[in-house]
Amino acid sequence: MIMERKIMYSAVQPSGNLTIGNYTGSIRNWVTMQEEYDCFYAIANMHAITVKQDPALLRKRTLELAAWYLACGLDPEKCVLYVQSQVPQHAELTWVLNSITYVGEMQRMTQFKDKSQKHADNINMGLMDYPVLMAADILLYMADYVPVGVDQKQHVEIARDIALRFNNRYSETFRVPEPIILKTGSKIMSLQEPTKKMSKSDENPNACVFLADDKDTVIRKFKRAVTDSDNKIAFSEDKPGISNLLGIYAAFTGKTVEEAEKAFAGTGYGDFKVAVGETVADVLAPIQAEQARILADKEYIGGILKAGAERAYKAARKTLSKVYRKVGFYTGD
Ligand code: TRP
Repeated sequence: MIMERKIMYSAVQPSGNLTIGNYTGSIRNWVTMQEEYDCFYAIANMHAITVKQDPALLRKRTLELAAWYLACGLDPEKCVLYVQSQVPQHAELTWVLNSITYVGEMQRMTQFKDKSQKHADNINMGLMDYPVLMAADILLYMADYVPVGVDQKQHVEIARDIALRFNNRYSETFRVPEPIILKTGSKIMSLQEPTKKMSKSDENPNACVFLADDKDTVIRKFKRAVTDSDNKIAFSEDKPGISNLLGIYAAFTGKTVEEAEKAFAGTGYGDFKVAVGETVADVLAPIQAEQARILADKEYIGGILKAGAERAYKAARKTLSKVYRKVGFYTGD
């Protein structure tokens, strides 16, 4: 019996510079998964415009993100890499799914509430519809699994609800996806407020280490990392700063947190911070060089994204025509 490969879907928005958390928490795991699953990895530029974006910068970041994907090891022969807006079915399926999604459930979404507060002058329809677009992303490709950070889990759950609702109303159509909450390295916290997740949109530039940061910048940020006033390098809940640094060190060396604790037993905080910074910078250096090399070749990236969009289109078209038939849209045949 030939076992069908499971389908994996995930995406990142080109709305900021990637952080080391995006790398260890998402992209690095995607690289492993492409060996075992049929993977679709998107650049979610349609999600990005639900908050204000500078158009030129959005376009630039889209290519930069594609170059990071490739530099981190995503292989266009092994997975489908594409830009969301290049596959029209995302918008089309969103419209159909909108009609089986309730306003009330969208208003209750945690991220919608957070972003409404943060962007109080721009609570637009797209922001509220964001989870439906994300459901469309996932359901178009019949994904079995959706690897995401814990902050996106609620969105995958809504995608499941929408899939089940559609299947119940119109007969079996969508596969119901499961979230995979990535553990290793998915909990990299802010260097300034270590009880908060490291976020690429943080206003404090010292809070966040970007994939693009050079060695001096990385070390400077780690030197300024907030810790506590005793001098013991130990992983514990009441030491969020030190625990975060140990977690980062472990994620970048493949060691366990216990091994990291042992390695730094008796080391002072200052030296410890520099050591973690150096470790991170040394892992980033070859990836940065590769990203720059790829980014310089716009034609190469363009070709990969075009081929990716074509493959995605084929899969998406199949699902969408099924959906159009089920809901009773006239298709001309
Ligand atoms: N909303 C996700 C984020 O900001 C990105 C995303 C868009 C996504 N579509 C997706 C993730 C589909 C998983 C599956 O992180």
